Amino acid sequence: MIPTPDLTHLTSRDFDNVYEPAEDTFLLLDALEQDEKRIQTQQPTICLEIGSGSGCVTTMLAKIVGASNAVFFTTDINNHACHATQRTGRHNSVHSVETVQTSLVESLLPRLEHAVDILCFNPPYAVTPPEEVGSFGIEAAWAGGIDGRQVIDALLPFIPQLLSPQGVFYLLLINENRPAEVAEIMRAQYGMQAEIVMERRAGRERQYILRIQRPT
Ligand SMILES: C[S@@+](CC[C@H](N)C(=O)[O-])C[C@H]1O[C@@H](n2cnc3c(N)ncnc32)[C@H](O)[C@@H]1O
Repeated sequence: MIPTPDLTHLTSRDFDNVYEPAEDTFLLLDALEQDEKRIQTQQPTICLEIGSGSGCVTTMLAKIVGASNAVFFTTDINNHACHATQRTGRHNSVHSVETVQTSLVESLLPRLEHAVDILCFNPPYAVTPPEEVGSFGIEAAWAGGIDGRQVIDALLPFIPQLLSPQGVFYLLLINENRPAEVAEIMRAQYGMQAEIVMERRAGRERQYILRIQRPT
């Protein structure tokens, strides 16, 4: 069992500005842990987490992959989250984290075209008024707009361009995001394979991990 990254360096003041890991974060961690052998067999060299927040997920991924075996790129629209991600990596002896403040993957393409072996995103998925999407602060952690899908849908067209031939994308969704529809979009529009590999109830939410990759 891989221990959850140590976040004791982050205080409640940090979490005023940065998303504090919650059930959704832990579902993504559990999905990565469930795929530990699969990921290790894949021998990833470039990993990318979009919306890294505290850096908990990327640090855990680095523990699975081996911190010195790959580069771990992260992006977040929130500058506080970028700093927290760097600090969490260092605090857990993961020094191969490259953090970029950008929206989704804007500053990383075309540099990472067809290069990303493991991609993770726990997106802002809550259903909110559309005008709440696009902030640079803590609201960006949850504000997903219509069906909670606005940020998610903005990313989907980039997936085939980002993933390496054997690349795998782990995406967290909730019921309101219509996971089956997202899977169908990935299949029908982008020729990818998509399956729900984990699901769990968290309070009133039903959360899912969709694993997306090229057909094998
Ligand atoms: C639900 S939080 C997840 C944080 C962390 N990955 C976790 O699992 O605990 C969503 C994160 O996405 C970031 N985010 C929202 N919109 C974004 C965008 N357009 N580009 C990059 N990051 C974004 C937020 O700032 C926030 O850190």
